[in-house]
Amino acid sequence: MNKDKVVVSNLTKRFKDLLVLDSISFTVKEGEFLCLVGPTGCGKTTFLNSLSKILTIDSGSITIDGEAVDPQKHNLAYILQEYSTFPWLNVEQNISYGLKIKGFDKATIKERTNEAISMVNLEKYRNYYPNELSASMLQRVVIARAFATKPDLLLMDEPYGQLDLNLKYKLEDELLKLWEQTKTTIIFITHNIEEAIYLSDRILVMTNKPTTIKTAIKNDLARPRKVSSQGFVDLRNEVTDLIKWW
Ligand SMILES: Nc1ncnc2c1ncn2[C@@H]1O[C@H](COP(=O)(O)OP(=O)(O)OP(=O)(O)O)[C@@H](O)[C@H]1O
Ligand SMILES: [Mg+2]
Repeated sequence: MNKDKVVVSNLTKRFKDLLVLDSISFTVKEGEFLCLVGPTGCGKTTFLNSLSKILTIDSGSITIDGEAVDPQKHNLAYILQEYSTFPWLNVEQNISYGLKIKGFDKATIKERTNEAISMVNLEKYRNYYPNELSASMLQRVVIARAFATKPDLLLMDEPYGQLDLNLKYKLEDELLKLWEQTKTTIIFITHNIEEAIYLSDRILVMTNKPTTIKTAIKNDLARPRKVSSQGFVDLRNEVTDLIKWW
């Protein structure tokens, strides 16, 4: 069994009188692909912002590898809900940005940037600017920027929410390939059950506010998964039943 990567204990977060996360506890194993699903406004983004220290928490704790989370020390990458490329930087510069911030030397930046560009098949577009790219290409830039830093924990907040279904599956397959190659621990937020079943090793279902974890569902379906397979349909029905009360 893999060791614990992230341990969330009794995490509570409120905004003034609004109790959002109500003493949430769970563990993520090293190398695990965890999906968090929950209704809109339940605090999914708030959770990732708490984990990455963008927000301070009211009580409880979050540790990574047994130590209190510290973005200076832990190698986190965070892919936000909104597209987050820099319009004034081209593809290559966008991808190398994260490496520059983290203070890598020039040779490493070059090598990692090239590696990441080819991982997401954007070689031909390295000199293009974001306004010259399609939505899926932009998403690839964001993914490449995250993987270029070789994060040991990747946080993703509904990264494919705005894409059409075909592109979504394509990008999800690419993500799974990168995950399998790099063994990165991933926490992936979505409110799409099918997406969660397609991607994850385990699904945590969140409640409405004040938010707790309703249930954890192990997802052992063999990969590559087929949405039409009986196992997939059964699991989707099981999760759908669980969230009827959303
Ligand atoms: N900075 C803030 N100040 C006050 N309230 C906030 C703040 N950020 C979020 N909230 C509230 O906290 C709750 C959780 O918001 P959050 O954005 O985390 O939800 P979410 O689960 O990510 O929703 P969605 O699925 O729509 O992305 C919401 O009720 C929201 O209005
Ligand atoms: Mg959100």
